[in-house]
Amino acid sequence: MGSWGNFPRLPLRLFHKCFTTGSQLDRLSERVPVENAMLDRRTEFAKLRERAGLSVEEAAKLLRVTDRSIRRYETMGPRGTEPTPLAMDLMMRMAEVSVPRLPAARPASRFRFIDLFAGIGGLRRPFEEIGGKCVFTAEWDKYSRQTYAANFRDNPIDHEFAGDIRPYAEEPWRVPEHDVLLAGFPCQPFSIAGVSKKNSLGRPHGFLCDTQGTLFYDLAKIIAHHRPAAFLLENVKNLERHDGGRTFATIMHVLTQELGYQVDYRVISSAPWVPQKRERVFIVGFREGSDFNFDDLEVPEGSAPVLGDILERKVDPKYTLTEHLWNYLQGYKEKHAKAGNGFGYSVFGPGDVSRTLSARYHKDGSECLVLQPGNRPRRLTPRECARLMGFEEPQGSKFEIPVSDTQAYRQFGNAVVVPVVRAVATIMAPHIRADARPPAVDVAEQREPMMVHG
Ligand SMILES: C[S@@+](CC[C@H](N)C(=O)[O-])C[C@H]1O[C@@H](n2cnc3c(N)ncnc32)[C@H](O)[C@@H]1O
Repeated sequence: MGSWGNFPRLPLRLFHKCFTTGSQLDRLSERVPVENAMLDRRTEFAKLRERAGLSVEEAAKLLRVTDRSIRRYETMGPRGTEPTPLAMDLMMRMAEVSVPRLPAARPASRFRFIDLFAGIGGLRRPFEEIGGKCVFTAEWDKYSRQTYAANFRDNPIDHEFAGDIRPYAEEPWRVPEHDVLLAGFPCQPFSIAGVSKKNSLGRPHGFLCDTQGTLFYDLAKIIAHHRPAAFLLENVKNLERHDGGRTFATIMHVLTQELGYQVDYRVISSAPWVPQKRERVFIVGFREGSDFNFDDLEVPEGSAPVLGDILERKVDPKYTLTEHLWNYLQGYKEKHAKAGNGFGYSVFGPGDVSRTLSARYHKDGSECLVLQPGNRPRRLTPRECARLMGFEEPQGSKFEIPVSDTQAYRQFGNAVVVPVVRAVATIMAPHIRADARPPAVDVAEQREPMMVHG
């Protein structure tokens, strides 16, 4: 307990930035504003902490000391304590790289979670609402990262925004401790064909060989190492039927038999929450077992939402299909109708419900074109897609969309419907038991030299 190996891990970039030269330090301390030196009775440490935008608790966590130690560093005179050079040093670096703070009114977190294959964070917000603190995100797509970062202002001292998850699965201790794991993992085809043959040859089998090379394998390795109290995995409905049900059976086998979780799943349609038919499978697991039951899911009753609820009043003409594309889509539909196929586009009015928005929506918008009487139909705007996916409501605060229309369509088409996740998170909440965190130790007991990993 208490080794520096457990020191809160800063992203490498931040550590590099942190360990600057003495002269840089001197310049920094010169820059710390002292508005009125005569009246300013705060210690140098207190000024740096405030400049870094850290609370006493956060500074204590960062330095792995007690809150009392921090207060002593901030007390002038004989009752105060001189901070260790290490503490002073780190606080100076934190002041230098300070980032905008999260809103002060945010409630204290009840549990820590990680957001894997995060996309634009559809799983994240509902878990923050039930008291979670996101401590790690993995998303490798450059543009999804931009949208995610614009909507979730994380502080790099207690949140790492990783790219590719696979190197972390190889060294899972690099992922911070967490109570809940969230993942909308991409489904790559894998089959358990050959498992029985492997068995008959007496070779060991399990997720290490059944799923190796898939992202589910990477996920399973992180779960195996950290054993979070709970997880929520999300995927397309087809996962259940893929490869004659064998893929899903393998996943369930790994989660229940090999990792030992109590697992439940449900295919949920988004239509009661948003005007879109989108069915997704949600897989929930609890390490210790629980009374969690998908039957507790609160599905909105009464008339379901319709497209008219989310459409914008004024829409740029650029979203109207070009004559060329509209002719092409009509011709394509006609050709397939003659052959007895149902392929083609769908046009909807304000009283209708959209088909599933896909990641290819940007190509021709064929799954949901909006009727424009007297004109060619149009695509949904990215803002309407944000509403169709429940990332925002017409009257609520706006979801930031800092990317091109093409990227935005792709991101929303890949995402989860936020209110559906909210309903699942709500019924998971009473069953999430955050594991005890390692107690902070007093600085007097913790004077070992600091090892910088990297
Ligand atoms: C189905 S989407 C998840 C969408 C997310 N649930 C949301 O609401 O936006 C899967 C995401 O995994 C990301 N991804 C795929 N392979 C990855 C990898 N090796 N490391 C990190 N992210 C990856 C993709 O870029 C994509 O954004």
